[in-house]
Amino acid sequence: MSSLLEILKSASERGVAIGHFNIANIATLKAIAKAGEELQVPFIIGTSEGESEYIDMHAAVALVKDLRENHGLVCYLNADHIHSLEKVKLAVKAGYDSVLFDAGKLPFEENIKATKEVVEYVKSENPDILVEGELGYIGSSSKILKAIPEGAAIKEEDLTKPVEARQFIEETDVDLLAPAVGNIHGMFKDAPNPNLNIERIKQIREAAKVPLVLHGGSGIRDEDFEFAIQAGISIIHISTEIRSAWRHGLETALKGNPDEIAPYKLIGEALDEMRQVVYNRLKLFNRLLE
Ligand code: G3H
Ligand code: ZN
Repeated sequence: MSSLLEILKSASERGVAIGHFNIANIATLKAIAKAGEELQVPFIIGTSEGESEYIDMHAAVALVKDLRENHGLVCYLNADHIHSLEKVKLAVKAGYDSVLFDAGKLPFEENIKATKEVVEYVKSENPDILVEGELGYIGSSSKILKAIPEGAAIKEEDLTKPVEARQFIEETDVDLLAPAVGNIHGMFKDAPNPNLNIERIKQIREAAKVPLVLHGGSGIRDEDFEFAIQAGISIIHISTEIRSAWRHGLETALKGNPDEIAPYKLIGEALDEMRQVVYNRLKLFNRLLE
């Protein structure tokens, strides 16, 4: 199987992006794998700190290994939004393919210092593991929002600056960069998320010269995704839309089957709703037409 870096290079040459989807249970993993298999495209599975505390890092590694080795899927595992070197070490030792070290809330110089330390550690353990850094704060929860998350960079003057992106990459040596370009974690119930700043994505990609990762994908308009990929986004993270489909599907199954108690019989509806979300996003990110 190609390495994640090779997959990203090919995606950027073809003008497509790789979908990254978070999981905390087997049903979500199965839904993502099914969509990836139907479309025959690569994908990345992510576990945040909270998600991996529940599912267990070693279990997540074993599950993704099973998809690769026994189901022939091209997929990777990312330790998403890790906030400490200790947790980075756990992910590296467990066998993750990449790590997002998230110091995006820290002042610029402190972010550089902490991220550099993580890159040095990871590369000394295994140079093939990719490290992503985060520049700019975009909120922290994959949830249904009532307002823009407090402190999130949304105004043009607060977005990641190309010159800072370049300095950040040069000083930390990260493989991937997650900028703040109008994106926020979470989504609104009845309204799309704010527009992305496409021009800023282009400028950052040009200055940074590493693949860019768009976090907070849930709730973003389809055409914004298309422009963002053309402008240089190589990975797109989706979580809230999957969580919302899980809850909706589960509620429907519970209402429709009041006497059923077998978990695997009740989970089918949620699995299918999650699969549909991932399928639609993968199709869009990979520019696959009907
Ligand atoms: O790292 C995870 C994501 O950036 C997901 O964001 O919940 O807004 O889709 P989202
Ligand atoms: Zn994120």
